[in-house]
Amino acid sequence: MKTLLSILSEEMGKAFEAAGYDSELGKVGVSNRPDLCEYQCNGAMAGAKKYHKAPLQIATDVAANLESSEIFEKSEAVAPGFLNLNLKGEFVAKILSEMTDDEFFGLERPEPLTMVVDYGGPNVAKPLHVGHLRSAVIGESIKRILRYMGHTVYGDIHMGDWGLQMGLVIYEMSLRMPELPYFDDAFTGEYPAEAPFTVTDLEEIYPAASKKSKEDADYKAKAMEATLKLQEGKRGYRALWERIMDVSIADMKRNYSRLNVDFDLWNGESTVQDLIPGMVKDMKDGGFAYESNGAIVVDVKEETDTKEMPPCIIIKSDGASLYNTTDLATIKDRVAKYNPAKMVYLTDKRQDLYFEQVFRCARKTGLVPADTELVHIGFGTVNGKDGSPYKTRSGGVPRLSDLIDEIEEGMHSKIAENANTKGDNLTEDEINDRARKVGLAAIKYGDLSNQASKDYIFDKDRFISFEGDTGPYILYTIVRIKSILDKHTANGGKAERGVIGAAGSKEEKDLQMLLAGYNATMESAAAELAPHKICGYIYDIANAFNRFYHETQILAEPDEARKQSLISLLVLTGDILETCIDLLGFSAPERM
Ligand code: ARG
Repeated sequence: MKTLLSILSEEMGKAFEAAGYDSELGKVGVSNRPDLCEYQCNGAMAGAKKYHKAPLQIATDVAANLESSEIFEKSEAVAPGFLNLNLKGEFVAKILSEMTDDEFFGLERPEPLTMVVDYGGPNVAKPLHVGHLRSAVIGESIKRILRYMGHTVYGDIHMGDWGLQMGLVIYEMSLRMPELPYFDDAFTGEYPAEAPFTVTDLEEIYPAASKKSKEDADYKAKAMEATLKLQEGKRGYRALWERIMDVSIADMKRNYSRLNVDFDLWNGESTVQDLIPGMVKDMKDGGFAYESNGAIVVDVKEETDTKEMPPCIIIKSDGASLYNTTDLATIKDRVAKYNPAKMVYLTDKRQDLYFEQVFRCARKTGLVPADTELVHIGFGTVNGKDGSPYKTRSGGVPRLSDLIDEIEEGMHSKIAENANTKGDNLTEDEINDRARKVGLAAIKYGDLSNQASKDYIFDKDRFISFEGDTGPYILYTIVRIKSILDKHTANGGKAERGVIGAAGSKEEKDLQMLLAGYNATMESAAAELAPHKICGYIYDIANAFNRFYHETQILAEPDEARKQSLISLLVLTGDILETCIDLLGFSAPERM
């Protein structure tokens, strides 16, 4: 289906043309004076110059051609030359009935492509912290939106599993547990399959090692040596590294599954190490990479640059590869394996310049075909109420799991309290289940409702509130719809998608017009990779629905046909809201 605004603009364009003006002038937008009209067209203002006519005259000419329109109930020319428009109830209802019949509610999906979304980006052996929340939550939603559009999308976690942190952990373990076979150069047997440490040990070992390395140059040198030996393939270190990976990945999976986030590819920096020498050679042979102060670099500056654009360092003077070397090799690997039309990266926006360098380097050196899109979405910081990065009470960096716990606990007491006032007898398991579901909505919506590039304040009390622009408010609205529909079916009625009739009130029409904007919202959320657009959309729908609900008798409606139309409207509203929250990566409980 065409978007509502394009249908309106087309109708308006015809009226302009019939009055002797350019149809392009008929662009219709949502009214910025909802007290006066639903939609508006400002084309007469734009046409005044071209036709040397008063805008009001043009608007009046055009309005005259809309008197018998099947779409506009009102088309009024007002000074100085606006066209104020209202839609016919039957027209809106017809659109909704068409949406109802379509699996994608009238969304036309584009040609399917293959894409990679690179998100998560945790570092092995280090605990997940608050900084990992946004990448996971936004990336998961973008992946789901792109899949919904029909694309084949690979979510790749791109772990940091090859850097100094691995050497630090290995070296520290060699001091603590020197008796392990991993550190015995004479050992030739099979290394044990079980890790000699737990994730809790790991969580203590890494920070301890990191601290020592900052205080003790010799310690750091040893850790760097261990990193190098691991990368060169030293048998014992490789085996220990695998155990660290097992333990760490199991912990990541636990954390990400609490966020309802999962990945198709558990690749990391280590995955592409073998590709690096060949890639560097190609870059040299192609004349792109050259030696500068002992390092190998590729210039990525362009003449039009207004900001500093340092060259991409591919190999350091000590022969080591870097973070970006791995990213470039990963691009090469993905092109070979999937040839994606688009690769989307989610990281903190402090990596903006970094990704610009990497993308330019990848293009210049021919790692990607010219039409492959490389997109970096740099997100803002999660702040505390004081406006600076969110900290624990003792001033540390909060663990991701603690953050989730905090929300779930807050949600738990709210749910228990609510159930108590309503006299619902819930088991502890039921309370926990609801608290988890609603808590997930609280944390994800709290994040996703902000434009990604902006910082936001992690405000637990606001996030878990059942009122306002929050996840729980959206779920509450869905649950309300479900419970009306349940009552209806309990009374022997049918709660299915069906024909929707013209609205009986302004509130109902407002809801209908919003629902009719579904395809346009999805198109722009997908094109701009912007989940916050979906949040804004469902918040508007939830508000419109609740206003409608307060004004309307639904189950008590005596006219059967009208009642069925109201039920169909509820079903469609519920289906759309549930589809949207699924794209945001959470779901609604049956009750709350
Ligand atoms: N591990 C990286 C970090 O902690 C994030 C990885 C992001 N993805 C990428 N392809 N570079 O900063």
